[in-house]
Amino acid sequence: MTDAERRSRASEAFFGRRKGKPLRERQAQHLQTVLPVLKVDLSAPAPADITTLYDFPPNRMRLEIGFGGGEHLIHRAQETPDTAFIGVEPFVNSMAKLIGSIEETGARNIRLYDDDATVLLDWLPAASIDQIDLLYPDPWPKKKHWKRRFVSKVNLDRFARVLKPGGLFCFASDIDTYVNWTLMHCGSHPAFVWTAENAVDWLTPFAGWPGTRYEAKAKREGRKSAYLTFRRL
Ligand SMILES: C[S@@+](CC[C@H](N)C(=O)[O-])C[C@H]1O[C@@H](n2cnc3c(N)ncnc32)[C@H](O)[C@@H]1O
Repeated sequence: MTDAERRSRASEAFFGRRKGKPLRERQAQHLQTVLPVLKVDLSAPAPADITTLYDFPPNRMRLEIGFGGGEHLIHRAQETPDTAFIGVEPFVNSMAKLIGSIEETGARNIRLYDDDATVLLDWLPAASIDQIDLLYPDPWPKKKHWKRRFVSKVNLDRFARVLKPGGLFCFASDIDTYVNWTLMHCGSHPAFVWTAENAVDWLTPFAGWPGTRYEAKAKREGRKSAYLTFRRL
């Protein structure tokens, strides 16, 4: 992708917060010492085989975009130790929290990226990822902000490029207009097909679903969620 194409893409910018409360000393130390070791280095070209980023031969590659508190990512990493994960989160406090969980659990199958996921997506080799999880992305409920949503034609093109044929794109949200938006965008994208088999499919959480912090908040506030799975053709 050329720089001009990049600039023309409405979804390119990262619109969220990068910093919150001051970090505790240990968290700040983790960011200085652990993050550089686990961070995917985009200054060099991506290796042809992305699994070489890990010190074991993983049998699947999974990417989680905007992992927030990291509860889902750390749960999946422990549940499937043979799968390799890349977690992306630009919010510093969340990154520090996840690194704390990685240190506590000793998980070896996670690599990290602390900036806009679109940059990582453009770096990754084609057909290198088995599953992309986009769980409760920032909802941008006001119509004038919909163009900021992570799901967009250009980002689905990115997903289509990096996903292996048959790979999955899993999306969860509690915001009706975002769920419809995603169904519409994926429905009109030639690379994706919705896997729902019956009417309640989309109300059923993904297998082994541990929930996320954002989902718990949505539940407390009385909002139901939808869980959508799309297959890359
Ligand atoms: C509403 S929160 C949900 C967090 C978590 N997935 C959950 O369910 O609790 C959305 C997250 O996406 C992150 N995010 C927003 N834009 C992003 C981008 N362009 N690349 C990567 N992460 C992004 C935000 O920093 C935020 O942590």
